[in-house]
Amino acid sequence: MHAPYEVPRIVVSGSPLADADVDLIIIPVAEDGAESAARHHDGPLGNELRSALDRGEFRGKANEIFTARPAGWRASRVVFVGGGPRHEVGAERIRRMAVSAAQAARHQKRARIAWADLEPGTLGAAARIELVAEAFVLANFDNGVHKSRDGQRFFISDATILTSDDVAAAAGTGRAMGESINAARVLINEPGNYLTPTVMADRAASLASVSGITADVLDEKQIAALNMGLLLGVARGSAEPPRLLVLKYAGPGAGGKNVLGLVGKGITFDTGGLSLKPADGMERMKDDMAGGASVVAALRSIAQQQLPIRAMAVVPMTENMPGGKATKPGDILTAASGLTVEVNNTDAEGRLILGDGLWYARQQGATHLVDVATLTGAVVVALGKITTGVYGTPQPWVDQITRAADRAGEKVWPMPLFDEYKEQLKSDIADMVNSPGRPAGSITAAMFLKEFVGNGPWAHLDIAGTAWAEDAKSWQPKGATGTMIRTLIEVARGFAG
Ligand code: BES
Ligand code: MN
Ligand code: ZN
Repeated sequence: MHAPYEVPRIVVSGSPLADADVDLIIIPVAEDGAESAARHHDGPLGNELRSALDRGEFRGKANEIFTARPAGWRASRVVFVGGGPRHEVGAERIRRMAVSAAQAARHQKRARIAWADLEPGTLGAAARIELVAEAFVLANFDNGVHKSRDGQRFFISDATILTSDDVAAAAGTGRAMGESINAARVLINEPGNYLTPTVMADRAASLASVSGITADVLDEKQIAALNMGLLLGVARGSAEPPRLLVLKYAGPGAGGKNVLGLVGKGITFDTGGLSLKPADGMERMKDDMAGGASVVAALRSIAQQQLPIRAMAVVPMTENMPGGKATKPGDILTAASGLTVEVNNTDAEGRLILGDGLWYARQQGATHLVDVATLTGAVVVALGKITTGVYGTPQPWVDQITRAADRAGEKVWPMPLFDEYKEQLKSDIADMVNSPGRPAGSITAAMFLKEFVGNGPWAHLDIAGTAWAEDAKSWQPKGATGTMIRTLIEVARGFAG
């Protein structure tokens, strides 16, 4: 296995652009700032931008790239990256611009890059540079780690932020967040034969070995002792034993009794069980632990930033397989909470393991819950591959998650949890069924989870549409996206405040 990513050195410098000792300088340009940028860069560089604008080769549209050769500069290349209209240059746009430009630098084999912080957009300097630093790490990702005859692998080694603002701390924080997101992406991309529940638990625990975090991996015997009948019921069909990862974080000076509980779905491969999925596209189901990887990466980053809060991550991990001992359609399982579930479809396994996971987080003292899961195909029908669905109660907590996502530059959209939907969960012979039929499939999945969260604040993020990119984009490699990690970190920052 090759290194899947490299974390570049990142420094902040007040050096003039012409003097920066780097290979390539990135200059962000908003659509409505392109004319003044052409005037600002006088001499040969200004002329090149001027004529590119006249030709229409570059207009400053979002993520548009134009490469020029700056005569008389130490850097041999300049990459102009478009930002679109200035009022749109927020968190998501800045990240995408910086990843797109850094990808262009990698294609041009320029290892030492700089970001000229000239386009303010709508963000403050610290927030902007945090995102740029994160983006440079995200751009330095290569998903061909298992190729034995790889092509040329080229990484950015050094990044300089050219600004007179004092943003060194923000750059360091962004860099660490990018590293956490890349680490999650590596786990999510791993195939099911490499990343079994046992392996995932070990790798996740070692990722989380950061000051302030204690890690516990519960094995199948400990899971049985907790009466987690839902997790065990899903694991029955697999030769691989289940695991329950429990990470607890206590930040410096974290008083009060509020504990943020992050719960993630950790299905290391989802065949559907005896309600077997069709063969076509089943390989994608190696990413069914993306929610679990996300909450681990988020807690790691929260601890690295030493946020003054208490938080935990709980990740139930198992394969969903159709083995000889597998749970059968019609079987009844008893949750750790005591609720009984008629399993009318073994492919609705995520809500089962999360039911026990959410219950356990609450039992361990979590007061405010957020779960992340590749839970339903129905959310892909509703929101496509663009937007994560957010569900939960009470409304102020859901709003807090939505605002955090907005600050993080990640798209989420609220879905309703009206009591009337509960009707669909009815079972003739148990407390509820796990598969309530096609209508409102992502909502009824959330309604099922709601049965395990008690009366406290809880939000559920369904990332089935957003965890995996089918195609590479200039700002996003094909495969695992690492979505919602940034949002969870922003939730934690708000939790501290
Ligand atoms: N892991 C899947 C959901 C999924 C589907 C994720 C497509 C990513 C892309 C989940 O376990 C599942 O199979 N859900 C079923 C539930 C149904 C049986 C009620 C689904 O959505 O079809
Ligand atoms: Mn499934
Ligand atoms: Zn699944």
